[in-house]
Amino acid sequence: MARKVGIFGAGWVGLVTGVCFAELGHDVVIRDVVPEKVEVLRRGEVPFHEEDVPELLERNRDRLTFTLDPQDVAGCEFLFVCVDTPPTYSGDADLSRVWTVVDELPELSGNPIVVMKSTVPVGTGEKVRHGLDARGLAHVGYVSNPEFLAEGHAVRDFMHPDRIVIGAFDPADADEVASLYESLEAQIVRCDVNSAEMIKLAANAFLMTRISFINEIANVCEATGADVVKVAEGIGLDHRLGPHFLRAGIGYGGSCFPKDSLALKQLASNSGYHFQLLSAVIEVNELQKRRVIGKLKRHLGSLRGKRVALLGLAFKPNTDDMREAPSIVLASRLLAEGAEVRAWDPVADGSVLPRGVEIAPSVARAVEEADAAVIVTEWPELATLARPEIRDAMANPLIVDGRNLLDPARARAQGFLYEGIGRPVSPTDVLAETPERDPELEA
Ligand SMILES: NC(=O)c1ccc[n+]([C@@H]2O[C@H](COP(=O)([O-])OP(=O)(O)OC[C@H]3O[C@@H](n4cnc5c(N)ncnc54)[C@H](O)[C@@H]3O)[C@@H](O)[C@H]2O)c1
Repeated sequence: MARKVGIFGAGWVGLVTGVCFAELGHDVVIRDVVPEKVEVLRRGEVPFHEEDVPELLERNRDRLTFTLDPQDVAGCEFLFVCVDTPPTYSGDADLSRVWTVVDELPELSGNPIVVMKSTVPVGTGEKVRHGLDARGLAHVGYVSNPEFLAEGHAVRDFMHPDRIVIGAFDPADADEVASLYESLEAQIVRCDVNSAEMIKLAANAFLMTRISFINEIANVCEATGADVVKVAEGIGLDHRLGPHFLRAGIGYGGSCFPKDSLALKQLASNSGYHFQLLSAVIEVNELQKRRVIGKLKRHLGSLRGKRVALLGLAFKPNTDDMREAPSIVLASRLLAEGAEVRAWDPVADGSVLPRGVEIAPSVARAVEEADAAVIVTEWPELATLARPEIRDAMANPLIVDGRNLLDPARARAQGFLYEGIGRPVSPTDVLAETPERDPELEA
């Protein structure tokens, strides 16, 4: 049955939710506060890079309305909150946009349900419930329905979810929200609101733990001569462990993991508990991004005046999202070391990188006369980086593969010096000249 769905926020979560619900046959009104975004959407364009969203938007235009006016959601049966919840200075989630939505809700007749899709700390639902009651909206239901989509294949994740989590104060509200998804084949986990909020935070924390775990294993592999790619394969085939999130690299970034890990750590410490494991996961990730600098120095000595190409800037492939992308940290560190940085990405806007970084229009231009090329994001376009014309264009054919995208043997056979993450270093990968001594390396 077609239902009327209102959505606050036309970002990754709000827009994907909106076009997918429209595809499922529901009538959707999406409200945002940024006029340019609403204008673009009304023209039928998508303000960010996400597979399948343009097609779904086009196909379902008659079931989708975009607006700046919160009054336009007045007739909706469901009011999804999909606004951003960035970290505050202390690491707590900033819920100010969530509260603005509660304040801006129009007069609502019938028994609509506010559905929280934004990632929020445990206890938020109870506070919003009180807030709604205080606004005279006791007849409005409240459900926590956290979102697990991953950018890059968000539509696929929405349409084929591993599970749908529905936490409610009133089982009837949970039934209503579940009915919205009835045409999807998915297991529904019903629970209380606090548990639904914790499921989202804990799932993200566990994924990050796996990433930091395999990165630490990679670092030990480097010290001992093992190959983390084989190690991960061997671990991942164990049915108790599974293969996912065991890819060593230069650490996680993005709009969710960094902020959600901080929010959970803060949530625990605000409740009097020191979440030691999560603190270590966060610290390992920070250090991991910086290990690339050590690898470059090992080959080049001091980086002052050296030209480094950063290849791939978005926090992961198939998105243009630069939020908390490791490329930002790397670019800053390289500039601080005195290196010249040229950066390339097929879709992401590199203008958020620190001043002084040159944005290159192509891989070929980025690597021209470069002393090293660093693969930061595993865009498919970079899978063929180790080819003769790239080698010949570089001043020094060094590739530091931050995502283990390339085959080391093949890259070396093409005449490159190659270093991955957690992979054995070839004895031939030593520069003929002894690099300048760098006191920082010896500290
Ligand atoms: N991006 C992801 O991969 C992802 C995945 C799962 C969960 N989440 C969570 O979902 C939430 C949204 O994330 P996102 O990536 O879509 O954020 P986003 O920043 O891309 O989008 C948020 C949108 O909300 C709009 N907004 C702000 N205040 C508003 C208001 N009062 N009314 C209407 N719109 C308003 C903003 O203008 C923006 O367009 C966050 O809590 C995030 O942690 C994100």
